Amino acid sequence: MMNPAILLENNLAWANSQKSNFPDFFPKSAEGQSPGFLWIGCSDSRVPPSRITGSDPGQIFVHRNIANLVVENDANLQAVLQYSVEALKVPNIVLCGHYRCGGVQAALNGCPYESVNQWVRPIVDLAKVHSEELERLEETARINRLCELNVLAQADLLAQSKIVRTAWENGQPLQIHSWIYQIESGKLEVLREPFVSASA
Ligand code: CO
Repeated sequence: MMNPAILLENNLAWANSQKSNFPDFFPKSAEGQSPGFLWIGCSDSRVPPSRITGSDPGQIFVHRNIANLVVENDANLQAVLQYSVEALKVPNIVLCGHYRCGGVQAALNGCPYESVNQWVRPIVDLAKVHSEELERLEETARINRLCELNVLAQADLLAQSKIVRTAWENGQPLQIHSWIYQIESGKLEVLREPFVSASA
């Protein structure tokens, strides 16, 4: 079991080194944020957005949930989306999934946790739509293909959301990216060209 004190010690060391290397960093941070990205990703501990993209505090506004879902009646997601698009005017939204996603696996095979099974129900429906393709694959390939299909489906939902469509109608620059992270290599893959407008 990891001692939580290690997190506090590491934080202090980080804060001190950040302050001595970049004296303007914390005073500037305190003035406000202007992130270039909204990141919608999985809660999985192996996919920390800032760390895997070499980003600093202040660069990425983040929403994470199990299996990176865009759910219309999720008040948390809607608040994050509206604030980042309308107030912060982020020019990019990255919908990022990852291979070997436990949430996607739960959608295919079920899991012992009822709240998780309920949460991933949209992926169960998605798997039904693509059952012919998925059934031809072996277990790991099937999970990973559904991870990809899930990223594409969630990015589609984002592009169709009222908040994003309104931003595009108003001529606000806003791209939606569909990415997936490979746990084995630490590398991000672009699944398709970004959506740049309502015609996407
Ligand atoms: Co996951």
